[in-house]
Amino acid sequence: MGLIPEEIIAQIIDRCDIVETISSYIPLKRMGRSFKAACPFHHEKTPSFIVNPDKQIFHCFGCGVGGNVVNFVMKQERMEFPEAVRFLAQKVNVSIPGDETPQAHHANNIRQAILRVNALAAGFFHKILLADKSAAAKNAREYLKSRAIDLDAVRVFQLGFAPNQWDALLTHLKQEGISLRLMEKAGLIIPRESGQGYYDRFRNRIVFPIFDTRAHCRAFGARALESAEGAKYLNSPETIIYTKGHHLYGFHLAKQAIAAEDCVVIVEGYVDCLIPYQAGVRNIVASLGTALTVDQIRLLRRYTPHVVMLFDMDPAGEAAMMRSLDTLIEEGMEVRVAALEDGEDPDSFVRRRGVDDFRGRIAGARALFDYKLDVLTRRHGMQTADGKAQIAAGMLPTIYRFTNELIKAEYLKRLARALEVPEDALAREYQKVGQALSAAILSRIHEPAAVNEARVRAVERGLLKLMIEQEKWIPKIRQELTLEDFQDTKIRMAITRIFDFFEHGKKIDTVNLINSFEDAAVSQMLSSIVTEEEVAGDREKMYQDYINRIKHDQMKTRKQKILQQIQEAESAGNFARVSELSQQFNQFIKHEGF
Ligand code: CTP
Ligand code: MN
Repeated sequence: MGLIPEEIIAQIIDRCDIVETISSYIPLKRMGRSFKAACPFHHEKTPSFIVNPDKQIFHCFGCGVGGNVVNFVMKQERMEFPEAVRFLAQKVNVSIPGDETPQAHHANNIRQAILRVNALAAGFFHKILLADKSAAAKNAREYLKSRAIDLDAVRVFQLGFAPNQWDALLTHLKQEGISLRLMEKAGLIIPRESGQGYYDRFRNRIVFPIFDTRAHCRAFGARALESAEGAKYLNSPETIIYTKGHHLYGFHLAKQAIAAEDCVVIVEGYVDCLIPYQAGVRNIVASLGTALTVDQIRLLRRYTPHVVMLFDMDPAGEAAMMRSLDTLIEEGMEVRVAALEDGEDPDSFVRRRGVDDFRGRIAGARALFDYKLDVLTRRHGMQTADGKAQIAAGMLPTIYRFTNELIKAEYLKRLARALEVPEDALAREYQKVGQALSAAILSRIHEPAAVNEARVRAVERGLLKLMIEQEKWIPKIRQELTLEDFQDTKIRMAITRIFDFFEHGKKIDTVNLINSFEDAAVSQMLSSIVTEEEVAGDREKMYQDYINRIKHDQMKTRKQKILQQIQEAESAGNFARVSELSQQFNQFIKHEGF
């Protein structure tokens, strides 16, 4: 793809309405000739983000960002300039000359086609649930009734029923002229083991369409009826248009209420979202049974920083919640945790105790700090020194992630008091945790360029694998590199722990290692390394190669940094500094042989 001609760029900007574009991401309130909103690019309580339709620009008086519609899309979608222009071009139907590579065109067509197939499927399932005369469909309506899901909710959430047949959807979509290939790409049908023909993925199940923020159906979840056997929930596989953990169930319905109430309630399951919603709690979404992901949190953050977590009161819910909390704080959210009775979930609670009680629980949600301290105290006990150390080890990273220094100080004080330990001892532990974490968090904020990232990760992962397989590599690597040398956050977390175990003479048992992480992503990475085949080939050579590559990358980074400083000094007119830096730079390349 070549450069985009300037007159085409002008034409695209001309045809885009900035108000329309921005309001498809965040709710705008009219204020005279302009529009106002809470800035999507920094955390704020009082809106200082202005959109001016006359000048077709936006500006935030809080964080200083601003520009035209292209600049907005660049920031919001994290795109480079040409990508953002192409993104907008598509919306306003301007074609860019010389741009339509067959592949790009094709990929985009497939996305559109899958969205259309999903919409057809959702419509089909919905109609069956509402009106089909088969015994199975009647059974499904009875089932929903038994769960107190009413017709309005069925309509609003577009619930459906997949008939108790092998090819009901397949036949229907065929009549609509959809190819088998496309149905398979959408994850709706599965090839028969015999290799001949296909069958419907979802059969005899209540279907919950999963919509994106703009109400396009991206995937389906499907629940077995109470009496049926097999997995309770069956979901769409990941497809070209669906990545797990990128979406929040119910968000397209809840977003206005979330903005209006400046608060979102996050639950785990489909029905946990649906039942309170139909009872009038509208600012509610479901994470769909996993810990919250950064992508999900960033969706929410455009609407509100205030989160009430309301997960199932069982061990699985508690684990998912604990994993979500640190991510939420790191993303700058203000988190509270609501509790129900043991063993209960939002669905059962609302039906048993009513929606007023439910609202009460939300209003009475406790600060994250208190909640987590409670859970850890129950888990480890405060009677022994070891228990206290475990509690501190769990709490300190959380405290560290708060951005406000006063809040940190206050929580440290409270934690010391709760544990009945001297504050300065706790502060020293905190320092240690902080050192390991700060590098980790920083690197996550300043993610390196994508191309590099994969390569860097492969090298770092290689070193981690060596250490896991043979302990003898640990002291060598520890001598050669420091923790800051590892850029990948998850890998660094794992290596920090390995070094720590090593330092304390603990055995590096992979099971212990995996279990010591609350962060599922780290455990997942470790377990994938452990289950892989052992390193084949000359380990010594591999080790040298990895170390060399890391050192080489470091020099490159240092070089770039000096260059950047030179540029800054130059534009600031500080020429003494420029010459000083230039000398540094020259020395540097002489030494390093660049
Ligand atoms: N889930 C899933 N696949 C499973 C189990 C659970 O996708 N095999 C997701 C679903 O989104 C489900 C959520 O995790 O709604 C919570 O799971 P769970 O608490 O087991 O189910 P409930 O939502 O309580 O379902 P129900 O009330 O219908 O029994
Ligand atoms: Mn339930």
